[in-house]
Amino acid sequence: MKRVSFVAGNWKMNTSRSTAIDLARGVVRGAMSGVDIGVAPPFVYLDAVGAAVAGSTVKLGAQDVYIEKNGAFTGEISIEMLKDLSVSFVLAGHSERRHVLGEKPELVSKKAQTIYAAGLTLVHCVGETLAQRDANQTFDVVRTQLGELGAWVTDPQRLVIAYEPVWAIGTGRNATDAQAQEVHAFIRQTLAKTYSQDLADRVRIQYGGSLKPDNAKALLSQPDVDGGLIGGASLKAESFLAIAAAAVAAAR
Ligand code: PGA
Repeated sequence: MKRVSFVAGNWKMNTSRSTAIDLARGVVRGAMSGVDIGVAPPFVYLDAVGAAVAGSTVKLGAQDVYIEKNGAFTGEISIEMLKDLSVSFVLAGHSERRHVLGEKPELVSKKAQTIYAAGLTLVHCVGETLAQRDANQTFDVVRTQLGELGAWVTDPQRLVIAYEPVWAIGTGRNATDAQAQEVHAFIRQTLAKTYSQDLADRVRIQYGGSLKPDNAKALLSQPDVDGGLIGGASLKAESFLAIAAAAVAAAR
């Protein structure tokens, strides 16, 4: 099964208005075919970055969303607001939301469903902590986090799983090619059991966690690795595009 890789930049709480626009323009200028490319800036720059990527193949993403349509939810952003700005993909369950902001599985699950039900692409993030890996709980943790998805998932084109071992995020310590492939294959098997082999074969599974130009080719060449979710290295167009180019090379 040939899957087109998806390489997405998660800018987290970085950039200013002008550096965000410059970065988006740089990504648009260097974007190549053969890979789907997306950028997820902070909420406040979505409009400006959306204008910078408009008319290009670069997709606009959001890092989070709230589960209610509107109302008294101070500080929160609804899915309709994101759609209004032409956002096409949204992250749910990023480890920083789970572990730094304290989001519970129930909320992650509702966010995932909110994104999917709105017709957008859901990037559902899963991954174990170092303590969980050391206690041999990686598969259990990932299986449980995949369980946050429900029977409502029917379209494999609008589901992306991002496997991001927490110990590899922002630490400079990436998973080895074999460690990534092992968990990615497990994720695909779990999706096949829960949904269908056909759905599992079509879902893109991104690797995230210290993905850099120099380790991208090897990681992205693994058979069940279909692109990446990139934090630090997505803040420079050059390094981000080098990873996208590695995804294209890996597909050959
Ligand atoms: P990193 O972040 O590339 O800086 O490790 C990845 C992520 O958290 O999405």
